[in-house]
Amino acid sequence: MCGIVGYVGEKNAESILLNGLRKLEYRGYDSAGVAIINKKGEMNLAKSKGRLANLEDKLKQNPLEGSVGIGHTRWATHGEPSDLNCHPHTNQKKTISVVHNGIIENYLELKEYLISKGYEFYSETDTEVIPNLIDYYYKGNLLEAVMEATSKIEGSYALGITSVDEPGKVVAVRKDSPLIVGIGKGEYFIASDVPAILNHTRDVVYLNDKEFVEMTKEEISFYSKEGKKLEKDIHHVTWNADAAEKGGFEHFMIKEIHEQPRAIRDTMASRIIPGKPISIDNIALTKEQIKNIEKIYIVACGTAYHAGIIGKYVIEKMARIPVEVDIASEFRYRDPIFSDKTLLIVMSQSGETADTLAALREAKAKGVRVVAITNVVGSSVSREADDVLYTWAGPEIAVASTKAYTTQLITMYILGLFFAQNKNTMTSAEIEDIKNSMLTLPEKAEEILKQKEVLQKFAENTYMHKDMFFLGRGIDYAVAMEGALKVKEISYIHSEAYAGGELKHGTIALIEKGTIVIALATQNDLYEKMLSNVREVTTRGAKVLGLTVEGNNSIEKTVDSALYVPQVNSVLLPVITVISLQLLAYYIAAAKGCDIDKPRNLAKSVTVE
Ligand code: F6R
Repeated sequence: MCGIVGYVGEKNAESILLNGLRKLEYRGYDSAGVAIINKKGEMNLAKSKGRLANLEDKLKQNPLEGSVGIGHTRWATHGEPSDLNCHPHTNQKKTISVVHNGIIENYLELKEYLISKGYEFYSETDTEVIPNLIDYYYKGNLLEAVMEATSKIEGSYALGITSVDEPGKVVAVRKDSPLIVGIGKGEYFIASDVPAILNHTRDVVYLNDKEFVEMTKEEISFYSKEGKKLEKDIHHVTWNADAAEKGGFEHFMIKEIHEQPRAIRDTMASRIIPGKPISIDNIALTKEQIKNIEKIYIVACGTAYHAGIIGKYVIEKMARIPVEVDIASEFRYRDPIFSDKTLLIVMSQSGETADTLAALREAKAKGVRVVAITNVVGSSVSREADDVLYTWAGPEIAVASTKAYTTQLITMYILGLFFAQNKNTMTSAEIEDIKNSMLTLPEKAEEILKQKEVLQKFAENTYMHKDMFFLGRGIDYAVAMEGALKVKEISYIHSEAYAGGELKHGTIALIEKGTIVIALATQNDLYEKMLSNVREVTTRGAKVLGLTVEGNNSIEKTVDSALYVPQVNSVLLPVITVISLQLLAYYIAAAKGCDIDKPRNLAKSVTVE
């Protein structure tokens, strides 16, 4: 769960690597380092614990010359964040340096073997075995030594490697961790993600597992693990560099919250067109295959899992197919029941989440068809699934997911309608009705973004609390879960979501004078029942923010403050409601002075188990 970059060319490698690492800090930010080879063929390293700014300060004092190098921003797995554990790691002779994203599962075994051959180790990391293993196999060809070393390594890795014995070169390889290659003019790049190189090139090659790249400023070559030369396609990235910047907002999170009307519109584009059947690019499922589906699993983690819970409501309601939603880390070990009538949907913003990817592989190995919903083109889940439905949210940099969630909801509606259309479980008029309602969502989302003042006021009165409860029934309960996650991850306030009717079975014991409760009551058929649940907590002294649809003004008799969301088809309301909760979480964290884009202990992309 780290970010890696690499450069070969004519320019100053230090600034290119630092610039790239800045864009990758969302992948980890407990330490950072670079290794740069100068014109004399000497390799110099600079490392620093803490944020990238520390490394930048160090390099300002002692700049590193050279136009070949690798860099790393770390999120610790093996060994605490420290200068010693920070990457790049070198072999004992300090001739080879390596940056690594992933986990080497058999590193202890390899370490013992290398120690028996006279090697010494200095860090607590799994990574340090890699440069030493490469050194062990080095017989005058870096690429061959890397191939030999990686054939002995078990686990996940994206690696960038340099050596003073071949000073004008960077070698890289990936397995189960992301890595892309940037193609410039007389210069080449490697990076964990596209934004790291967008300032230099938009031409990108996506590496598959166990593919190698060898690059000098003159040429670049790709190889299979057997050493066979590969022809790789170059993809032109359409995101511009600005899309990955904050664009005038204080944090990426608030910028991304405000991008939702655009993201929702983009995700519907070409799929939801009035008067035309739903069409989904990259989904090859036939009508017969859809009719044949008897069971769907939706598997994901965190926020994507919460979107999956809404997906269950939506697909069951629209297409009348039973859906089970699972947390990926549980699903992969629970021996789920599959048949040839099962469909697995994996949902992952990054497309690289280790548990989600493992669930996909488990299902595929058992012959189950897999549809991936992801935001990252070329990501691992998109390449390994049978069918892909992309969310067009654009790069999501803030650790707390916002626009990825709302666009995941949109894909759930699209899939639900697509299945319904093929199974005839809804009439064309009913489908058209929902489609038309969906097309109003971007403007409804714009309206919600204007609620800043009410939410800011509520946040200023609540940010000092230690606990917060979110209540909802039906689809609102699923949204409440996402609201609670947003609050806890960025403001560190303990917040939990409960189904309104479940509260009295235990949790109500926690309600006392002044306890903060956010009650969602957007579903008209459950409105009165929800208000009864709210009364249960107000009677015990809770302070309640009630959230309902415009027109339900009677809520004001029951709650302390009320917030209204615009009317839209009730099944679509989560898209709108959640934006209020995202804003609320943001303003609470801002009032508390938290580091919103980089919450403690978290990383954006969880590529380890
Ligand atoms: C929370 C959050 C995480 C992710 C989870 C899955 O705001 O971002 O809970 O949703 O780690 O990530 P992806 O969707 O990349 O698989």
